[in-house]
Amino acid sequence: MFSDETAPLNKYFALPKVDLHRHLEGSLRLATMLDIARQHGVTVPVSMLNLSGLVQVQDQDPLTFSNFLEKFKTLRLFYKSPDVIHRVTAEAVEDAAKDNVRYLELRFTPVALSRAEGFPLHDVINWVLTSAQKAAQKYKIKVGLIASVNRHESPELAEQVAWLAAEKIKQGLVGLDLAGNEAEFKSDSFHGIFKEAKQAGLRITIHAGEWGPAENVRDAIENLGAERIGHGVRVMEDEKVVSLARERSTVFEVCPTSNFQSGVVKTFELHPLPRMLESGLKVTVNTDDPSVSRITLAHEYQDVCDKLNVPMDALKHSILLAAESAFLDEIAKQELTASLKTELKL
Ligand code: ADE
Ligand code: ZN
Repeated sequence: MFSDETAPLNKYFALPKVDLHRHLEGSLRLATMLDIARQHGVTVPVSMLNLSGLVQVQDQDPLTFSNFLEKFKTLRLFYKSPDVIHRVTAEAVEDAAKDNVRYLELRFTPVALSRAEGFPLHDVINWVLTSAQKAAQKYKIKVGLIASVNRHESPELAEQVAWLAAEKIKQGLVGLDLAGNEAEFKSDSFHGIFKEAKQAGLRITIHAGEWGPAENVRDAIENLGAERIGHGVRVMEDEKVVSLARERSTVFEVCPTSNFQSGVVKTFELHPLPRMLESGLKVTVNTDDPSVSRITLAHEYQDVCDKLNVPMDALKHSILLAAESAFLDEIAKQELTASLKTELKL
């Protein structure tokens, strides 16, 4: 299930990749967290083994959404200074580039990053944007940023984040995402915020049909203006919502290991991704939280092919689809898709 750090360079690593669904807060290196804990006195166990249990899913963990989300509560303790936020952002971009990801859409939760030290949301957003852009240039990778707000947190704060994000579209903050506890929280109090955010020019992606029913996918498309759905795998429970997603050309950002670890599917092999493809849905493969899940995108691609029996050709088309579904302007998107087409021989 988990990544093998010593795995030889393989064909999945060699593929040029696109990740549309990766959370900054789920991408922190364990070694960096130890450094931060030592430097800033974060009160967590400072041995690799103990810390890992708090912030990464373990083989013996209960495979539930609540256990999965619990890791993010501990992760919030680490954002102790502007330097820390600069560092973890740059490292997240570097790690993607080293996995041969050509386009990364990195989402981050300003409220989470601002909490430990009470940093202003406006500053936190600027720090992430600045570091991501700098790292993108250094590591030769294209990066788009998405601001994320949680269903289980205050709509008032979400509204502030949405307005601040809309002011930063030209600086590469391209979208708005609704994440968090879908099992217990509806989206009603966020409808107005997402409608206005879309009107202001932000692109919309919504976590739905992950821990909640297919109906939430309909809600995301019809009431929140989602062009893309984070996960959305439970759409398969309702043929009418599958039809709606097909009609609207909704793109699904599927993250198979995350779904297994958070209890959406009983075993990895039972993941509905192949059935989603057969139903004519637009499916992309992504990591969600590579550090929490202890994976890379190369490993996800490998497992999708080896364990879900998705042919290499279909995987390559899903990479191209991800590029075509990027929240980039048309010119940048054309450039990305053209280079991927050539490299993937499509
Ligand atoms: N935040 C980080 N990972 C998430 C997930 N898989 N679902 C909802 N919120 C999240
Ligand atoms: Zn997610």
